[in-house]
Amino acid sequence: MVTAGVLISGSGTNLQAILDRIAAGTLDCRIGLVIANRATAAGLERARRAGVPNRLLDHRAFATREAYDAAVVEALRAAGVELVVLAGFDRLVTRVLLAAFPGRVMNIHPALLPAFKGLHAQRQALAYGVRIAGATVHFVDEETDHGPIILQGAIVVGSDDTEETLARRILALEHELYPAAIQLFAERRLTIDGRHVRIACERPTSSRLLPEW
Ligand code: GRF
Repeated sequence: MVTAGVLISGSGTNLQAILDRIAAGTLDCRIGLVIANRATAAGLERARRAGVPNRLLDHRAFATREAYDAAVVEALRAAGVELVVLAGFDRLVTRVLLAAFPGRVMNIHPALLPAFKGLHAQRQALAYGVRIAGATVHFVDEETDHGPIILQGAIVVGSDDTEETLARRILALEHELYPAAIQLFAERRLTIDGRHVRIACERPTSSRLLPEW
């Protein structure tokens, strides 16, 4: 079991996927607090509906990123949070947050890192002409979309895919990957070893991802 704090900015569908897994009893996680930096974040309503403590902490009320992160850390600590889950959180986090939760901040990115970091990853992937796209759950370090990779999932890009269809299909994949990564953390099976994340008792992978031509 792990107590997580989830940081959001927008629709919060990843938060919803986590809440759904918890409700179904398939994720050993308790959400101690959801923090949104924008009042418009629909994820706040998702948290309310699930009866999860939630809070709006508007970054514009703080002079620096560090001051904002210090307030976030204080709120997360007060809620007993052990693992910080960035789920569509559109702020760069600083070492203030990372030092408070060393090796305990996760993020999800809608691309197969290290390709297509930053904004509009799905658009970048499509424009580049990749045949395979996907999503990455990683631990967060001080560089954007860079920390050690926990899990990745891939999908085949179809010739008829648009940015919207690709984003939708990747998001569906994210909803599987993020709870899975949190479950591994909850089971204390993840160890960071440099750039690598070791997964204890990992099942051998046999699958090859082959496109259907
Ligand atoms: C996801 O695509 C995630 O990978 C990215 O932001 C999006 C958040 O979606 N970091 P949601 O708010 O969870 O619906």
